Amino acid sequence: MRIVIAGSSGLIGTALRRSWAADGHTVIRLVRRNAAAPDERFWDPTGSPDPGLLSGADVVVNLAGAGLGARRWTRAYREVLRHSRIGPARALAEMTARADPPPRIMLAASGMRYYGVDRGDRELTESDDPGRSGFLPAITREWEAATDPAAIPVCHLRMGLVLAQDGGVLTQLLPLFRRGLGARLGTGREFWSYTGLTDAVRAIRHLAELPSAQGPYNITTPDPVRSAEFTRTLAEVLGRRALLRVPTWALRLSLGDVAPEVLGSLRVLPTRLTEAGFGFTQPHLHQVLRHELRPG
Ligand SMILES: NC(=O)c1ccc[n+]([C@@H]2O[C@H](COP(=O)([O-])OP(=O)(O)OC[C@H]3O[C@@H](n4cnc5c(N)ncnc54)[C@H](OP(=O)(O)O)[C@@H]3O)[C@@H](O)[C@H]2O)c1
Repeated sequence: MRIVIAGSSGLIGTALRRSWAADGHTVIRLVRRNAAAPDERFWDPTGSPDPGLLSGADVVVNLAGAGLGARRWTRAYREVLRHSRIGPARALAEMTARADPPPRIMLAASGMRYYGVDRGDRELTESDDPGRSGFLPAITREWEAATDPAAIPVCHLRMGLVLAQDGGVLTQLLPLFRRGLGARLGTGREFWSYTGLTDAVRAIRHLAELPSAQGPYNITTPDPVRSAEFTRTLAEVLGRRALLRVPTWALRLSLGDVAPEVLGSLRVLPTRLTEAGFGFTQPHLHQVLRHELRPG
C-alpha cells in the first residue's frame, strides 16, 4: 500500500510509519518544514495544500495536533490546540475531495474526550452521545466534523491514553514513579481508558485494511481501570510503591482547569473494533505496561 501521513513525527506517527515501512509499504510523510528526505513532502495545513500530495495514495492518515501536556492552557494555547487539530483535518479532507484518484480511506485522529470530561462509571461505546460541556469535548467534536468535506470513507480514531516508554502521558509519570515518588492522581475512583502503543498501531493498521471501515472507533483496551489501580499497577510493574496521593484540588492548583479535562472518568470500550475482528495482544494494564516499558 501507499500511505500518506500528517503528524508523522509524533509518538503514534513514528511507530506507525516504521511498522508499515518494515512490512514493505510505502509511507509518504507530510512535513511542515522543508522536505529533507525522499519520503517527505512539504505541506502547509493552514494554506490550501495541493491535492496532488495524495496522488497514488491508498490511505491517508491524520495524526496532527499540538501536545495537550506541552504547555499551560492559556487562552492563546487553547487556540493552538484547536487550530492544530481542525486545520489539518479539514485540509486533508478537502484534498481527498479534489485528488484524482482519491485515496480509498482516511484515518483521522480523534480522542476519547469526545464523550465528555467526566462520565463516571458509565460504559461508553461508539454509539454514546458526545459530552455536552468542556473544552476538549468541544474541540474533539469540531475535529471530527472537520473531516465532513472528505469524498471518501473516514474512520475517527477515538484514542484513549496511549501508553509508551518514550512519549504520551507516561512521559510525566515515569520519572516520578521510577524514583518511588509516584502518586495517586485525583480521587482514585476515576476510570482511565488506555491502550499500549503497540496495539494502537495494530488497530490503526487493522482499520486501514478493513474494506468496510468507516465512522468512529474507540482505540482503548476492553479493560479500563480506576486511576488508583492504574497508579498501583504502574508502581508494581516498575518495582516501586506509589506512596503519595495528589488530591484533585492540588492538581487543579498546579494544572489549572486542565486537570478534570485530562483526568476525569471515562470508561470507554472498543466495541466497534472488536466487532471488526480486532484482538488486543495486551488487553490488560499490567500486560500493556510490561510490554511497553523498558526496565530501569
Ligand atoms: N498519545 C495519546 O495518548 C493520544 C490520545 C488521544 C488522542 N491523541 C491524538 O492523536 C494524534 C497523534 O498523537 P501523538 O501522541 O502521536 O501526538 P504527538 O506525539 O504530540 O504528535 C503530534 C504531531 O502533530 C504535529 N503537530 C504538532 N504541533 C502542531 C501544530 N501546531 N500544527 C500542526 N501540527 C502539529 C507534529 O507532527 P509534524 O511536525 O510531523 O507535523 C507532531 O509530531 C494527536 O492529534 C493527539 O492529540 C493522542
